[in-house]
Amino acid sequence: MRYAALGLLFAVPLAAADSCIECHSVLEGDLQAPVKAFANDIHARFGFSCTDCHGGNRNETDPEAAMSKARGFVGKIPRTAVPERCARCLSDTGFMEKYKPRQRVDQLAQYRTSMHGKRLAAGDTKVATCIDCHSVHDIREVKDPLSPVHPLRLPETCARCHADQAHMAGYKLPTDQFASYRKSVHWEALAKRGDLSAPSCASCHGNHGAQPPDVESVAAVCGNCHVMMEDLYKNSPHQPVFAAMGAAGCVVCHGNHEIRLPNAGMLAGPNAVCSQCHEATSAGGIAAAEMAHELNRLEKALARSDQILAKAQQSGMEVSEALLRQREGREDLVKAAVAVHAFQTTAVQKPVNEGLAIAAGTYQAGVAALKERSYRRLGLSVSLIAIAITMLGLRLAIRSIEGRSTGNSLRTWK
Ligand code: HEC
Ligand code: HEC
Ligand code: HEC
Ligand code: HEC
Ligand code: HEC
Ligand code: HEC
Ligand code: HEC
Ligand code: HEC
Repeated sequence: MRYAALGLLFAVPLAAADSCIECHSVLEGDLQAPVKAFANDIHARFGFSCTDCHGGNRNETDPEAAMSKARGFVGKIPRTAVPERCARCLSDTGFMEKYKPRQRVDQLAQYRTSMHGKRLAAGDTKVATCIDCHSVHDIREVKDPLSPVHPLRLPETCARCHADQAHMAGYKLPTDQFASYRKSVHWEALAKRGDLSAPSCASCHGNHGAQPPDVESVAAVCGNCHVMMEDLYKNSPHQPVFAAMGAAGCVVCHGNHEIRLPNAGMLAGPNAVCSQCHEATSAGGIAAAEMAHELNRLEKALARSDQILAKAQQSGMEVSEALLRQREGREDLVKAAVAVHAFQTTAVQKPVNEGLAIAAGTYQAGVAALKERSYRRLGLSVSLIAIAITMLGLRLAIRSIEGRSTGNSLRTWK
């Protein structure tokens, strides 16, 4: 018998304990690893055990009886069978209500609509199944920072396949999503600033229905978070033409994975996106140049004020009010950058003019502060000179008193 030697190990019958765990904890390698990992698994925390996924009978110490096919035992669960096995519990509303009443129960239904699910159903086992994203025997809650689907860890989880050229060979897909995403403003916000409202892979692709968003839904994906740009874009001259061209909204100008910090250089100059489609002399080209000019004007004016206020501050002048106003000016610059999405110069001009008025005021405040400093310096010099003159006078007076008194004594000695 295959298990004869093990039978000896279990000569002493086990108590009510779980025979799967008891026996597997004294085995080695891949046979023992599940027991070790399972301590942290959410299923263990809710009182589930090996048999809930593998079947068999955990009260039997004899391996044949414990791992009996007659008791529904399945060894290493085949990849193609994983989604249904998880869904046995997770898609059962009545069952899940007892444990996590508010949790969704549509993961399998969603998964089946995804490229992963469709290909798995066709027998392709290189796609992601539940355990590739969630791990197995060490399944944690999504909010656990050690969970492979936690927003900060998810990119690496997807990248295990999507950045692996060997794994992805044979599919007509690029493998640069991870590398590109890691250079984006979104990863920067998420990883460096801990801003959990910034998107990780699943925020744009969905977690269980992972598909590239289709053309119409791409603008919608970005718009879930960037509401103002979406509203302007939807009413802009681009929306209908891009949609008809089959192009994907925001992505046309910003890209999808490697979204960088935008600036006026996107409108005019060597890195402009507008010139890819618009001649400089066309209405679009002219609007691009005008908007860039407006944005640069405000940027320069604010920078000029920043400079003079910094100088005033360094020389000890009180300019905090002007500095606060500068912030409002910066906000106008952001408003102008948002207004770009109407693709009309007039829309950008309004916040720019408001910002310019602020910048003019703060510049004047800087000039006044520096003038005030000069007055004070002048005042100081005048008083210093006065003091110096007084001291000189005093010295001369003392000298002459001393001189007189020496003269007297000389005279006395004569
Ligand atoms: C007395 C020891 C013993 C008990 C009890 C036992 N197992 Fe095993 N199990 C083994 C050994 C040894 C192997 C490896 C040999 C084999 O594959 O048959 C194994 C293999 C497995 C495998 C991997 C099969 C594969 O195809 O790779 C799974 C899964 C498993 N056991 C689950 C369970 C579960 C669930 C229980 C409780 C119902 C259980 N075991 C109880 C000793 C035991
Ligand atoms: C939530 C469901 C679930 C639970 C609970 C579970 N397993 Fe598994 N187990 C799986 C799946 C799915 C696989 C297939 C993993 C794969 O394809 O890499 C598997 C694979 C295994 C294997 C084969 C490992 C290998 O790499 O060959 C062993 C052994 C095993 N499980 C033992 C256990 C033991 C022992 C327990 C209890 C401590 C347990 N499992 C609890 C789902 C589960
Ligand atoms: C491509 C990766 C991926 C696959 C495949 C996947 N999941 Fe998920 N799953 C996620 C992500 C990401 C989250 C976290 C969603 C969030 O941030 O709220 C998640 C969350 C969950 C949750 C927590 C509740 C919820 O719905 O938000 C459950 C339960 C779950 N998945 C079950 C499954 C099951 C069952 C399968 C297989 C049918 C599966 N997952 C397949 C990535 C995946
Ligand atoms: C176990 C490997 C694996 C993991 C992990 C994985 N994927 Fe996939 N994914 C694939 C394979 C293989 C394909 C099929 C390629 C195809 O569509 O032809 C695929 C397809 C896709 C597609 C469809 C692409 C297209 O246009 O056809 C998207 C989108 C996708 N995955 C996103 C994700 C995201 C997001 C994650 C992480 C949450 C993830 N994947 C995790 C292997 C994986
Ligand atoms: C800000 C939203 C966003 C984020 C974050 C994002 N994607 Fe995408 N992804 C898209 C869009 C949009 C497309 C479709 C491209 C198109 O149609 O132009 C896409 C396409 C894809 C594709 C299809 C192949 C391709 O490159 O066109 C895969 C695979 C993919 N993404 C995986 C990932 C992975 C893995 C991550 C995380 C590392 C990720 N995506 C993060 C928006 C996003
Ligand atoms: C889940 C929400 C979410 C989604 C979806 C999303 N973003 Fe973002 N995005 C953010 C957050 C949060 C930031 C960082 C905001 C900040 O720090 O100013 C950001 C930053 C940006 C920035 C830089 C803005 C700046 O001035 O710093 C651009 C450009 C951008 N996103 C474009 C897009 C595009 C294009 C898409 C769709 C392909 C998209 N975003 C999808 C949340 C999202
Ligand atoms: C036709 C090109 C184009 C399209 C389409 C487009 N944008 Fe922009 N976007 C720009 C330009 C140009 C800027 C830079 C303005 C600046 O900072 O000077 C910008 C700036 C931004 C910013 C940064 C604003 C800030 O606070 O500084 C975000 C965020 C953004 N876009 C999101 C989106 C979203 C979301 C969509 C889709 C709804 C979209 N964009 C569509 C060209 C475009
Ligand atoms: C992918 C190509 C493409 C890009 C990139 C692009 N546009 Fe356009 N734009 C078009 C098309 C097509 C139209 C509609 C046809 C037309 O009027 O030229 C249009 C229309 C316009 C119009 C209205 C023109 C009119 O005659 O009323 C303006 C203004 C405009 N775009 C400005 C911009 C600016 C500014 C940028 C850069 C931020 C930009 N476009 C980027 C393709 C593009």
